[in-house]
Amino acid sequence: MRIILLGAPGTGKGTQSQLIEKKYNIPQISTGDILRDNIYSKTTIGNKIKEIIEKGKLISDDIVCHVIKTRIQKKDCINGFLLDGFPRTQKQAFYLSNNNIKIDCVIELTASYKSILHRISGRRVHVQSGRIYHIQFNPPKIFGKDDITGQPLIKRKDDRKESVKKRLREYFKTTYPLIQHYLHEEKIGKIKFFRINGDESTSVINKKIELILNKIIL
Ligand code: AP5
Ligand code: MG
Repeated sequence: MRIILLGAPGTGKGTQSQLIEKKYNIPQISTGDILRDNIYSKTTIGNKIKEIIEKGKLISDDIVCHVIKTRIQKKDCINGFLLDGFPRTQKQAFYLSNNNIKIDCVIELTASYKSILHRISGRRVHVQSGRIYHIQFNPPKIFGKDDITGQPLIKRKDDRKESVKKRLREYFKTTYPLIQHYLHEEKIGKIKFFRINGDESTSVINKKIELILNKIIL
């Protein structure tokens, strides 16, 4: 099963991906997490992209497609994967189709501006693992610490108000048009497309996604 989760920043892509990963045993591939991990580990790519990410701009298609190419060749992708945050541009979407990387299902998460801001401002992450918390909606057991490792949680640099505004603008200008592309693909029977109201609770959204995926598997 190969899935794409589409949605603006803060709509809950990462949160839902991690639940799907556990339930269906397919890896979550978050380009954002992989890029942040490169920054954290100070790799060549990481040093190149640090400022761009922090400002809320998109990373070049070449770098991101290379990241995806390398990741989906790994053994754990043999039964499928879940793309979280890829594709985000037309060129990235064509990268998949041009390389015969067939996608079964695209799920779009929507959310109001108000909840996006509320969620992003309270988000805390464990960079090393990508685990996501929220100070109100999903707090860690011990304040400021990752539940599993006890390491400190951080606030993402691109979660500052100015960067969030830029990310949202970028989403609606560059990524949102992909919805039309995938609606067209659905019309011609190439993929299945679903839109889910991401303003609901994590568990309600998760149930809706599971209903969709269970039908696809059968
Ligand atoms: P990325 O890391 O992908 O960020 P994003 O798309 O902006 O999305 P977010 O991670 O901010 O939000 P999310 O939808 O995952 O929400 P989450 O589950 O965390 O990308 C970051 C940057 O990397 C980009 O700006 C770009 O620079 C670069 N990049 C990445 N991919 C790229 C690509 N393909 N091309 C070019 N550049 C790329 O939830 C948010 C918060 O809300 C959390 O605190 C969570 O606990 C809480 N929450 C979630 N769901 C609910 C709910 N239902 N109710 C209450 N709270 C909830
Ligand atoms: Mg995310």
